[in-house]
Amino acid sequence: MTTNSSQLTIIRPDDWHLHLRDGEVLASVAPFTARQFARAIVMPNLKPAITTVKQAVAYVDRIVAAVGESAFEPLMTLYLTDETPATEIVAAEKSCFIKAVKLYPAGATTNSSEGVTDIRKCDAALEAMQEAGLPLLVHGEVTEPEIDVFDREKVFIEQVMMPLMNRFPTLKIVFEHITTADAVDFVLGAPSNIGATITPHHLMLNRNAMFEGGLRPHNYCLPVLKREQHRQALLKAISTGNPRFFLGTDSAPHEQHKKESGCGCAGIFSAHAAIEIYATVFEAQKALDKLEAFASFHGPDFYGLPRNTDTITLKKTPWVIPDSYPLAGQTLIPMMAGETLNWKLM
Ligand code: NCD
Ligand code: ZN
Repeated sequence: MTTNSSQLTIIRPDDWHLHLRDGEVLASVAPFTARQFARAIVMPNLKPAITTVKQAVAYVDRIVAAVGESAFEPLMTLYLTDETPATEIVAAEKSCFIKAVKLYPAGATTNSSEGVTDIRKCDAALEAMQEAGLPLLVHGEVTEPEIDVFDREKVFIEQVMMPLMNRFPTLKIVFEHITTADAVDFVLGAPSNIGATITPHHLMLNRNAMFEGGLRPHNYCLPVLKREQHRQALLKAISTGNPRFFLGTDSAPHEQHKKESGCGCAGIFSAHAAIEIYATVFEAQKALDKLEAFASFHGPDFYGLPRNTDTITLKKTPWVIPDSYPLAGQTLIPMMAGETLNWKLM
C-alpha cells in the first residue's frame, strides 16, 4: 500500500457480499462493482432462488455477459433450503466457481421465503460443507415476530449461531453484515473458522439515519441500522486490523418506487462508491493504514483464495454522488445520494 495525503494505492479489493440481481437490473448494476472489485461473492436470493449448481452455472454466464470485457470474477453461492441434499454440496465444491452456501432464515429478508425453517433440517448439507471446506454465509437474524427487530441479531447468536458452531466445530462460517457490539464480541471470542463481513452503511450510519426529518426509506436495510454504540463497536473492530473482519458491501439495488412505498423493500445500494465510502470511514477513524488488509487481504485469506495482485488508486478530490442512476428503465437512489465524498476512485 502506498499513501500520501492526497493519494492512496491499494491492492484491488474484493466484495465478499453482493446482490447483482438478474436481467436488465444486473446489466445496470454489475459495471459499478466490476470497476473497483476483482471478485465478488454473489448472493443467490433471486426469484426463484439459486439452489442448484445447474442454476448457478446459468447465472454465472449471465453475470459474465453483463460485465463485458472486464476481468471481474463472480464467485457464486448456493441458496440453502430445508431440502438441499449433500450431493448438491459435493457438486458445488467440485464446480470450482461456487465458493459458499448462503443461509437465509425463512422470512428474514428480501426473497427469503424459500429459506431455512429449522437449521437442524440442513444437517446433511452442513456436514458435507464442513467436509468440503465450503463456507456457510449466514444472514444472522431470527425471524420470530415477537422478537424486537433491533434484537434479532443478538438473539440469533444465542439461539442459532452458538449451537451451530458447537455442532459443526470446523465448519467455516461468515457472519454476514454484522451490525452489533454483540456480533463483534462473538466473532472475537470465536475460533478462527468464524469470520464476519461489515458493510459501508453499517459503518457510516446509525439508526437515526432512517428518521432524519422524516422517514428515510433509502436508509432501510436488513439487518436494520442500529444504535450509535453498535456502530462504534464496528468501527473499533475494523480499526484494530483484526483479520476476521472483511469487506462485504451487501449492495442491494431496488427500484426507487419499491423503496418509497407503503411497504418499502430492504436494501441499500452502495456499489457506485463502495471503496470510496470505506476509505472515508477508515480515514475518519485514523485507520487508513488498515483499509487495504480489510478490503483486499482478509477476505481471500479466510476463503483460502489467492490475493489479487493489481492495484487501484483513490485520489483525495471531492465529488458529488449523483441523486440517482438509471436502473433497467427505472430509477435507483444510491447510498449518500447528493452528498459529497472526498475520496474518488481513479
Ligand atoms: C438484501 C436484498 O435486497 O436482497 N436486502 C438487504 O436489506 N440487505 C437482502 C439481504 O441481504 O438481507
Ligand atoms: Zn445481502
